[in-house]
Amino acid sequence: MPYLCNMANNHGYNGLVSGFSKKSKQEKIEWISQTCFASPQLAKSILETYWHTDEKLQRLHDEFIENAVSNFYLPMAVAPNFVINEKPYVLPMVTEESSVVAASANAAKFWSTRGGFYTEIIGTEKTGQVHFLFLGSQEKLASFFNAVKPTLLEKTDSITKNMRKRGGGISDIELVDSTENLANYYQLHVRFETADAMGANFINSCLEQLAKILQEQAANYVPFSEDENQIEVVMSILSNYVPGSRVKAWVKCPISDLGDDGDILAQKFVQAVNIANQNPYRAVTHNKGIMNGIDALAIATGNDFRAIEAGIHAYAARDGKYSGLSKAWIKDKTFWFELEVPLAVGTVGGLTKLHPMVKWSHELLQYPDAKGLMQIMAVSGLAQNFAALRSLVTTGIQKGHMKMHLLNILNQMDASEDEKQAMVEHFKSNVVSFNSVEQALAAWRKT
Ligand code: MEV
Repeated sequence: MPYLCNMANNHGYNGLVSGFSKKSKQEKIEWISQTCFASPQLAKSILETYWHTDEKLQRLHDEFIENAVSNFYLPMAVAPNFVINEKPYVLPMVTEESSVVAASANAAKFWSTRGGFYTEIIGTEKTGQVHFLFLGSQEKLASFFNAVKPTLLEKTDSITKNMRKRGGGISDIELVDSTENLANYYQLHVRFETADAMGANFINSCLEQLAKILQEQAANYVPFSEDENQIEVVMSILSNYVPGSRVKAWVKCPISDLGDDGDILAQKFVQAVNIANQNPYRAVTHNKGIMNGIDALAIATGNDFRAIEAGIHAYAARDGKYSGLSKAWIKDKTFWFELEVPLAVGTVGGLTKLHPMVKWSHELLQYPDAKGLMQIMAVSGLAQNFAALRSLVTTGIQKGHMKMHLLNILNQMDASEDEKQAMVEHFKSNVVSFNSVEQALAAWRKT
């Protein structure tokens, strides 16, 4: 069954395309508009509307990925008033979710007068694996590994040289026997330090080189039988699970500083966190709120948010059960709230020198190094979690959410600027829902 665009049948298109990547950008746009859209002209004009007028800048974006046909805009916002380890920060945030930045800004302001956020780096180690099959004696493989380990390190020298100058490199290589779980399956489990780089390219280059040397050395290892000479490398790739690269962020204040009903708020807060730690359905949503803060900053700073998401969710399930990532407790009339997450981020390489908005974000953050960015990201996650839980255990989430969502609803209804202003005023004292906005707008339009 050939791949069909959604609109394909309406347009008589029923085939695959070959050589698409070799077409010029214009040809790609022409093909896609004519093939998949009811109105090719409209489809084309939408793509063109989002092009940058500065040709050089547009070319830069086109060259980030294959088959680029336009740019996809997301709003970029800032959340001021973060105090982290006694230093003020303004956080850049890229997100489509209406309440996220407001939540950050509120939490930041709240904690700025209660001592601010504190952080601690627990480690920065990353890992990668060469996954391979070996048909033979486990003992002989272990002896072989011990014999060739220095060669493995030595023969990656040229790849690790620059990274070593920056304080990184390969920290250790272990042989892991997983034959109990999968027949003949072993790994080289490699630990890395990658300084201020996220390190994906560095790690993968090292691993591919290690795999090659492993095979070469095995082929010439005299104690091996003919079968044992043939190590079959399945794949070599970094792991996005980075429990060795962790950061902790926390806030604390006397319960009385939480407000008039501080003790009730603190207790409900602790209960809400305990529920997330006990119940996976709640834990996923709890952690999703944390990721609202981490991802928005990851995108703004040009970091790989899919890698970050994957690593953090795996960490949330490290004990065999998916749990909330934060902790809250009350001790000696003090409220504590803490988040510990694994993060592999970079402040050099990747998009950091290329994408103008990413560069802008790094300057806004006063050019943190990778450890600094890990700390700011963890704070961003904690702030979101604080804001979400505070709403959930007091007013409920919808009040704030729908207020923020009001402009989206009004835009869907093509409201003019005057109408928007009137509706914002009206809904200061009324409950926002799609229906209530529709009715209020209709009533306003009749006046
Ligand atoms: C919405 O994006 C995030 C929340 O659902 C998080 C939570 O429930 O803790 C509000």
